[in-house]
Amino acid sequence: MTLVDLRSDTVTKPTAAMRRAMAGAEVGDDVYGEDPLVNALEERVAAMFGHEAGLFVPSGTMGNQIGMRLVCQPGQEVLGDAEAHVVTYEMGAAAAVFGLSTRTVVSDGGVLSADQLISQVRPFGNWHLTPTAAVAVENTHNRAGGLVQPLEELEKLFAWSRDAGVSVHLDGARIWNAAVASGVPLDTYGRLADTASVCLSKGLGAPVGSVLVAGADRIAEARLWRKRLGGGMRQVGVLAAAGLHALDHHVDRLADDHARAKQLAERLGVDPAGVHTNMVVLDGVAAPMLAAAAKGEGVLVSEVSATRVRLLTHLDVDDAGLDRAVEVLAPLL
Ligand SMILES: Cc1ncc(COP(=O)(O)O)c(C=O)c1O
Repeated sequence: MTLVDLRSDTVTKPTAAMRRAMAGAEVGDDVYGEDPLVNALEERVAAMFGHEAGLFVPSGTMGNQIGMRLVCQPGQEVLGDAEAHVVTYEMGAAAAVFGLSTRTVVSDGGVLSADQLISQVRPFGNWHLTPTAAVAVENTHNRAGGLVQPLEELEKLFAWSRDAGVSVHLDGARIWNAAVASGVPLDTYGRLADTASVCLSKGLGAPVGSVLVAGADRIAEARLWRKRLGGGMRQVGVLAAAGLHALDHHVDRLADDHARAKQLAERLGVDPAGVHTNMVVLDGVAAPMLAAAAKGEGVLVSEVSATRVRLLTHLDVDDAGLDRAVEVLAPLL
């Protein structure tokens, strides 16, 4: 039975061409700063986002957590959306590892509202209040179904933050999807954040890796944090090669994933207007039963809650996979 895995875009396997690029990678010891492809990847991604420097990290979680630590000191707070990945799925790392406090706002469906966040920011210099050092934004927003954040709101928040002395961290795990869907250039998104973590291992199809981008001084400090966390890696150019290959070949094709997600929604009777990028959310379903029945037929879906299922399109879901998914899921719905 062919398996169609719609649980996440992280499940992709490296393509044959990506594996060839990895096999042929020239490598060096990256802890000495001597891995040529890691250096090339860091420089390239930093430039793509309009930042001075980049740091290759093993995961989006490490990129986010170090990124937030760079702009927030222990005992200060990061403000973000209640459904943000950084506060939902990162095991309380901000508090557990770095001593950062987090506070959240319940937004309208995950859509970033600059005014709402700004109204919740707490000032420095007050003896009673935990000061808000940074705001974390997520684009696309995972738990909001791959939502692309409105550019005007990002601009408003960033403009305000300059005068307020508050930093902005971008969780850009799927910023590539946001850019392809909205047409907003990557460097526009990048320049609206002080620190940004972008993932190579989601829609771009690399097996491992994220890049944290920021100013050069901040990235120098990030390098220390990565080492402290055990994230100093050695001949890791084999992974950077996968990332560079993904940047060359897998960014524009995200439009195909987005088109297939819309098609999937339409064919399952879900309003395609609710599909922003590569995610389809099925609400009001008996999620455990649906997931188990679909699995029995070789279609894997993600249970977000008892009544919500999430389907993601990605590099390893082609038209035949899409047809099979519809064939299995439509009768179950
Ligand atoms: C929005 C978002 N941020 C961060 C991450 C963390 O990435 P990683 O699994 O590489 O730690 C994910 C993972 O899916 C994500 O969806």
